[in-house]
Amino acid sequence: MTDQLRDGHGRSLHDLRVSITDRCNLRCRYCMPAEGLPWLSRTDQLTYAEIVRLVSLLTPLGVRSLRLTGGEPLLRKGVPDLVRELKTGTGVGEVSITTNGTLLRRQAAALVDAGVDRFNVSLDSLDPTRFSTLTRRNALHHVRDGLVALAQVTPGPIKINVVALRDITEHEIFDFVELAKDTGFEIRFIEFMPLDADHSWSRSQFVPGHELLSIVRTRYELVEEQRPASATARTFRVVGAQGKIGLIEPVSRPFCSDCDRIRITSDGKLRTCLFSLTETDLRTPLRDGSSDEDIVELVRAAVWRKELKHRINEPGFIQPPRTMSAIGG
Ligand code: 5AD
Ligand code: SF4
Repeated sequence: MTDQLRDGHGRSLHDLRVSITDRCNLRCRYCMPAEGLPWLSRTDQLTYAEIVRLVSLLTPLGVRSLRLTGGEPLLRKGVPDLVRELKTGTGVGEVSITTNGTLLRRQAAALVDAGVDRFNVSLDSLDPTRFSTLTRRNALHHVRDGLVALAQVTPGPIKINVVALRDITEHEIFDFVELAKDTGFEIRFIEFMPLDADHSWSRSQFVPGHELLSIVRTRYELVEEQRPASATARTFRVVGAQGKIGLIEPVSRPFCSDCDRIRITSDGKLRTCLFSLTETDLRTPLRDGSSDEDIVELVRAAVWRKELKHRINEPGFIQPPRTMSAIGG
């Protein structure tokens, strides 16, 4: 058997996240400036054939699950075709997608049919005015319609990503728990990380997971579940209801020690951490006739140097130049 992908800290890598576009149709304040960002040209982006080749090279090395991200991945044409190829031609087990949900209504059935196993939908507010302020687009109804359509067709779990922001999220916590109860969705509150476009992240905008948890517990009884290895979230069952609550706490309770994730940006750069300050260019070798073995060696060498942990909480932390939209969640 081929040697599995490992880093220099003893971790094996199983989870690959591939951003298929840096473009987005929302402008979430914590992610993008109002005017957007300078988008990559089409030729700068990896083609679907290049993505399929890369994934095929990585599955024999232990990559089991694949998440498609953006920007907003559903802005790219033909995502179901890509998913079908990935599921049938690369040996990858599970394919999931992180989307802002605005385009889901039309695409949910085709994506499920193509084999998407899990969906994460970003939704930071259930209030139309607050949603518009946060995302600078009046699109809550599209996301809601998308979720209804998705729930009708997917047999898999639906997770809702809520970035926790001070003076915003606190007002909606109970509404989100009620949504979990009504729908069976898992609501995951994510601590705000310093990956925003204008580098304005500060502790004053950030709400730690334990604070959200204690607010939920004032009204609901929660039972914590066992955390599977490498999971990003702590999850809780709401007693007497079907939905779940999750907390993703990269800032207050970092989960780097068993991280099994690597990322490829839409321009084909391998990133071994969300907070990496260096990247490995895979697009050039994919296009200059390099052999599969050469590409695998490049990946192995980069993965070996995977960062031990992020340094958000240390003096001298340096925010990476790319925003979340240009890295892929
Ligand atoms: N901090 C935390 N989460 C973020 N996301 C985007 N930017 C940030 C940030 N700075 C979330 C999105 C999406 C997921 C991919 O990451 O809302 O749900
Ligand atoms: Fe788009 Fe996601 Fe960034 Fe919002 S967080 S602007 S939905 S990429």
